[in-house]
Amino acid sequence: MKTVTMVAPVNIAVIKYWGKRDEELILPINDSISGTLSTDFMCAKTTIQASPQFKENKFWLNGKEQNFDSPRLDSCLKEVKRRASPSCPILNWKIAICSENNFPTAAGLASSAAGYACLVAALAKLYKIEGDISSIARRGSGSACRSIYGGWVQWIKGDRPTGEDSIAIQLAPVAHWPEMRVLILVVNDERKKYSSTSGMKKSVETSDLLKYRASECVPKRVEAMKEAIFRKDFESFAKITMEDSNQFHAICLDTFPPCVYMNDTSHSISDVVHTYNECKSSNRVAYTFDAGPNACIYLLESETEEFLSVINYVFPPSSNTGYLKGLQVRQKPINKELEMMFQEKKHRPGALKYIIHTKIGDGPRMVEDS
Ligand code: DP6
Repeated sequence: MKTVTMVAPVNIAVIKYWGKRDEELILPINDSISGTLSTDFMCAKTTIQASPQFKENKFWLNGKEQNFDSPRLDSCLKEVKRRASPSCPILNWKIAICSENNFPTAAGLASSAAGYACLVAALAKLYKIEGDISSIARRGSGSACRSIYGGWVQWIKGDRPTGEDSIAIQLAPVAHWPEMRVLILVVNDERKKYSSTSGMKKSVETSDLLKYRASECVPKRVEAMKEAIFRKDFESFAKITMEDSNQFHAICLDTFPPCVYMNDTSHSISDVVHTYNECKSSNRVAYTFDAGPNACIYLLESETEEFLSVINYVFPPSSNTGYLKGLQVRQKPINKELEMMFQEKKHRPGALKYIIHTKIGDGPRMVEDS
């Protein structure tokens, strides 16, 4: 019997991936860039056991047995085995996969990215695969390829039809920008209405704006974003992040029938961020929304206390216990000047379920091996 356990991180895109040019190999129509989040508060954990005694392959996700014959799982497993040495002694053994997320699955919180990155990292350890494995994780879920690396990561779309040049690369490690913090404002952690996979397929089929974004906007934005990250220029980083999120959701609305992912609370959060930035006369805080209503906020450590005082004021918790998860900060009341700006924006308690406060972190790591 051989056992491997790995944990892998969530990543949050600041330049979004939306649209495939190949559905099976999961090849995107544009490059994307993301920050990898620390595994301390949000991660996937996967244990894989291989044994000559197992009669069949098995897969459990969050305690529930799943169908092992899913095309994406199959595609990852086939590619790992193709790259393993033919003399690998366990190549023909059956496996049992047990995977769990310590955060809500399929609520637009990038759970498939962490899940597939973890699965592929664990398979790669089990079958002793050398070299880049992001192109394997990509076959599980596109965004998963970026969770294979820590820090700041670019998924290069590649041009070849076979996909071997569609890989993720690390732009900068965690230590490059240690002051960066991330707040996940959880509006709703239930399963999302339509998956990213079906949403982006519909966008490719029906949105003209999507073609314009992929060819005219993203290439320039990717260069500007890389520059902002390399220079640690938060002002530019924040502006590009918000512009790209807004453009992505504009494409979702340009899709027919439209994919509506943001809700009224999401729009209120975006309004609070813009008002806050106006008060500060610069972009101190950036929002980005994936295929769901939850907001991901990028900001520097120096800004967290004050911004959280505004969030707590505008979106009062329904109870104080467990509202702020993850990294803890001193809770301070909103100051008078900000209160004047935000008093008309106050919501009823409970509009926000909870907040996860985290930071940029490393890629997958092994926790056990036997
Ligand atoms: C909005 O990677 O979940 O989060 O490749 O079909 O599995 P599939 O889609 P997925 O899409 C993620 C979309 C996004 C943007 C992003 O993470 O870049």
